[in-house]
Amino acid sequence: MTDRELINFAIEAAGNAYAPYSKFRVGAAIECSDGTVVTGCNVENASLGAAICAERAAVAKAVSEGKRSFRRIAVYSRESADYCSPCGICRQVLSEFSPEAEVLCVRSDGRYVSYRLRELMPLMFSREHFE
Ligand code: THU
Repeated sequence: MTDRELINFAIEAAGNAYAPYSKFRVGAAIECSDGTVVTGCNVENASLGAAICAERAAVAKAVSEGKRSFRRIAVYSRESADYCSPCGICRQVLSEFSPEAEVLCVRSDGRYVSYRLRELMPLMFSREHFE
């Protein structure tokens, strides 16, 4: 799968975003290690702190389906003129499963930049801290 194809999944997922409060609709698409794609969108709530980001919605779907290893994730918002990158909580949640995953941060015009998750999350808190 090309980067562009994965980004197109994220763009499509943003169409399902439930974001009546922020009006910032986000879509995420994870390419899992088995080659399948799992998408997510942000899901907001009248209790504002209960909002779920698109990336975490996608991770929850993937893990619920038994997929815990991710190759790439694309993050997109039509409302983001700048490259849309995962928030800190989403970086932490993604790092739990795949610190080496590639993160494609996409602008509203479709251009993107890519990073390794580890670059976006230096000194991450991880399971090794328990061991
Ligand atoms: N949002 C995401 O879905 N992903 C991010 O990484 C950043 C923020 C959502 C949460 C909220 O619904 C809206 O964007 C504005 O913060």
